[in-house]
Amino acid sequence: MKIIMLGAPGAGKGTQAKLIAEKYHIPHVSTGDIFRANIKNGTELGMEAKKYMDQGLLVPDQLTVKILLDRVAQEDCRNGYVLDGFPRTIPQAEVLDEALNKLGESIDYAINVDVPDENIVRRMSGRRACLKCGATYHIEHVPPKKEGICDVCGSGLVLRDDDKPETVQNRLKVYHEQTQPLIDFYTAKGVLRTVDGTQDMQDVFRAIMEIL
Ligand code: AP5
Ligand code: MG
Repeated sequence: MKIIMLGAPGAGKGTQAKLIAEKYHIPHVSTGDIFRANIKNGTELGMEAKKYMDQGLLVPDQLTVKILLDRVAQEDCRNGYVLDGFPRTIPQAEVLDEALNKLGESIDYAINVDVPDENIVRRMSGRRACLKCGATYHIEHVPPKKEGICDVCGSGLVLRDDDKPETVQNRLKVYHEQTQPLIDFYTAKGVLRTVDGTQDMQDVFRAIMEIL
């Protein structure tokens, strides 16, 4: 099964993608996580991506598309995957579509996790992330067992550089301009499904399970 998670920054794409990936035993592929891992390791790609990410801007399509296509060509993606944070622009969606077409494949579902902008800024300031394994917490909604420490791998948790309120505003603007048009794109393909992302996390997951 090939699934795309759509939604504003902080809508809960990553949270739900992890749950779906676990349930169906398919990889969770997040371009944001790939970029953050590269930044952490000080790679050239990471340094380039960071310039854009810190401002809340999108990393250029050219860079992003290559990384994503390489990732989904790996053996563990053979039976499907959950894409989180990709595609984020119409050109990215078109490239993905073409690549899948060549293989005689297509996306099964694009799940739009719908959360109004008002809720987003509040969520982001409470988020804490593990840059080592990609786990995400929220100081109120999903606190780690031990403050500041990742339950999964024991690394220190951080507030992402791009989760500062002024950057979040920028990310929302970029989302509405460049990513929201994908809702029409996948509606036209007949694969778009929308869930109310303001509900409790488990309720959002239940709604997604009903769709899948
Ligand atoms: P990326 O890492 O993809 O960030 P994003 O889309 O801005 O989304 P987030 O990861 O911030 O939010 P999320 O929807 O995953 O929410 P989460 O589950 O964590 O991208 C970062 C940057 O990388 C981009 O700005 C761009 O520069 C670059 N980039 C990445 N992909 C790119 C691409 N394809 N093209 C170009 N550039 C790209 O949840 C948020 C918080 O809320 C958490 O604390 C969570 O615990 C909590 N929460 C989740 N669900 C609920 C709920 N139901 N109720 C209460 N709290 C909840
Ligand atoms: Mg995420």
